[in-house]
Amino acid sequence: MSGIIGYVGPRQIVPILLHGLRRLEYRGYDSAGLAVVDEGRLEVRRAAGKLRQLEELIRLQPLDGTYGIGHTRWATHGRPTTENAHPHCDCSGRLAVVHNGIVENYLALRSRLTEEGHAFRTETDTEVIAHLIEKHLQELATSALDPDVRLEKAARAAVRDMTGVFAVALISADVPETIVAVRQGPPVVIGIGREEYFVASDVLALLYYTREVCFLEDGQIAVLMRRGVRIRDLEGNAVTPRLERIGWEPILVEKGGFPHFMLKEIYEQPRALRELLKAHTAADGRSVRFEEIEMDKEQIRQIRTLRLVGCGGSWHAALAGEFLIEHLARLPTEVDYSSEFRYRDPILDEGTLVVALSQSGETADTLAAVREARRHRAPVLALCNGRGATLTREAQGTIFLHAGPEIGVASTKAFTAELMALYLLAVYLGEQRGTLAAEQRERLLREAWMIPEKLERVLAKDDDVRELARQFARAPAAFFLGRGLYYPIALEGALLLKELAYVYAEGYPAGEMKHGPNALIDEHLPIVVINARDPESPLSQLLYEKTLANIIEAKAREGRVLGIVTEGDVEVRQVADGLLEIPVASYWLSPILATVPLQLLAYHTAVLKGCDVDQPRHLAKSVTVE
Ligand code: G6P
Repeated sequence: MSGIIGYVGPRQIVPILLHGLRRLEYRGYDSAGLAVVDEGRLEVRRAAGKLRQLEELIRLQPLDGTYGIGHTRWATHGRPTTENAHPHCDCSGRLAVVHNGIVENYLALRSRLTEEGHAFRTETDTEVIAHLIEKHLQELATSALDPDVRLEKAARAAVRDMTGVFAVALISADVPETIVAVRQGPPVVIGIGREEYFVASDVLALLYYTREVCFLEDGQIAVLMRRGVRIRDLEGNAVTPRLERIGWEPILVEKGGFPHFMLKEIYEQPRALRELLKAHTAADGRSVRFEEIEMDKEQIRQIRTLRLVGCGGSWHAALAGEFLIEHLARLPTEVDYSSEFRYRDPILDEGTLVVALSQSGETADTLAAVREARRHRAPVLALCNGRGATLTREAQGTIFLHAGPEIGVASTKAFTAELMALYLLAVYLGEQRGTLAAEQRERLLREAWMIPEKLERVLAKDDDVRELARQFARAPAAFFLGRGLYYPIALEGALLLKELAYVYAEGYPAGEMKHGPNALIDEHLPIVVINARDPESPLSQLLYEKTLANIIEAKAREGRVLGIVTEGDVEVRQVADGLLEIPVASYWLSPILATVPLQLLAYHTAVLKGCDVDQPRHLAKSVTVE
């Protein structure tokens, strides 16, 4: 994992690299480092810990140059120490490399290179890249090639020696104003300016400087120089860059007055959902529109089963999707963790639609699941937020989430956007398969359009949630319970509390408590029960009553219950210790509303405990290793 950045051009380089790293810090924050070349001298600064440690180091030991690279690390191979921080150098100290990914055969390469006389200084797999390129450069030393071509050739030869997945950027003090970047797996985007070029793991790092970009494909090598950029494949064939313009405004990657990105992103949810609905419903509000799906009606009618795959929050959204799609489109649906999918020899064919959910579109396990599906000729749809993401390139069609950049490590607005996108997908499939009449469809879409405003009402209760968070900050653990569609939301609530506030939490189907977990209930363990009610849905009514019985059982065992209920609720109020109300909504949509108090609860608990909300320990937002 990790984030890489590079710049060649006339501007002051260090602020550009640091700015880029700040935008990429969500990808890992175990250490950070820079390497720049100034008048033929390579200078490196590296520091363990967050980016501010590196900034402090640079304040004490400033540096400057005309081209350079930077890195923010999520440790895979080698502890998160300063020695293991990128950039890594070759023996000469004139070549520096930053890397996102894993070199799988690094141990074999390392011992071969050691035998050949290369001296290793770190525990990382990345260092072999620097030494490998050094070796290939030595082999090319007598060739008449231009220095930039020689560096590119050496990098290409090194790539051929390595197995694994990697995005690499490198510079050499002997090749002025040149950066070589390679993609073999994780994303690499080239930013194009006037006589200046950028390379990064994510467009977020470039938005302030340019929105003209080009995404490298797997197996491509780019050479960035002041006078231009050239791209070739691994065989050395020239590739014409496919230029794209990113529509996001730079302001979207600022906190905009909020203390944390996560809180800002929670508050952005009504807007994000409006954007999503605008993009994916027809102007007359009568039907769903998915323009980026390349499947025709006939293909959709041939689908017999559906498989949803995702990780983390995206997996929870997929669980909710199963309810929605089976109910509204009557299509048998299964959900898998992306990381498990291909190891259980899934039964897939042209009649199985695989829908891969991913905020980033870069999660390695989800990409691997998609490749497995394609190997079996199953059609693949992506539900994705990331513009230009790998997932969107590998799937036959994409339903974009339109949530805007999400920077807090915990997914918030992308999660609720996934829920809404799945709802629309269920309506769409229902229409194509003839399980929903036109008027049902129109009602379902009308109800969807009511959600953003209802979400605003939930957000207005933020202060009540902050008050309740005090109990959770002191709690040793917590339970989150729900039935039906609220069960995946309970899982999400528990995950958020774990990852943000470091409180052990478990999400459970409320009806399963009596099969074991009830033994844990005592007066110290808060139990959050989601029990909203849709008066127009008999199913919701039934689930409400069953869940109410579970609340009463928990109370009989001295449990402390916090209920997430619909406005005007009477029954839960009589038994629960605390309540948070959400507006009445359709059962199929109220999980979106019920999620928000849980997001706020985890957020405020984490703040009260002094946790780093946007960058929880040991985690990263975009997990590009399996
Ligand atoms: C990481 C993040 C989670 C996210 C998961 C899946 O673990 O910390 O918040 O839900 O990855 O990410 P994706 O981008 O594939 O949705």
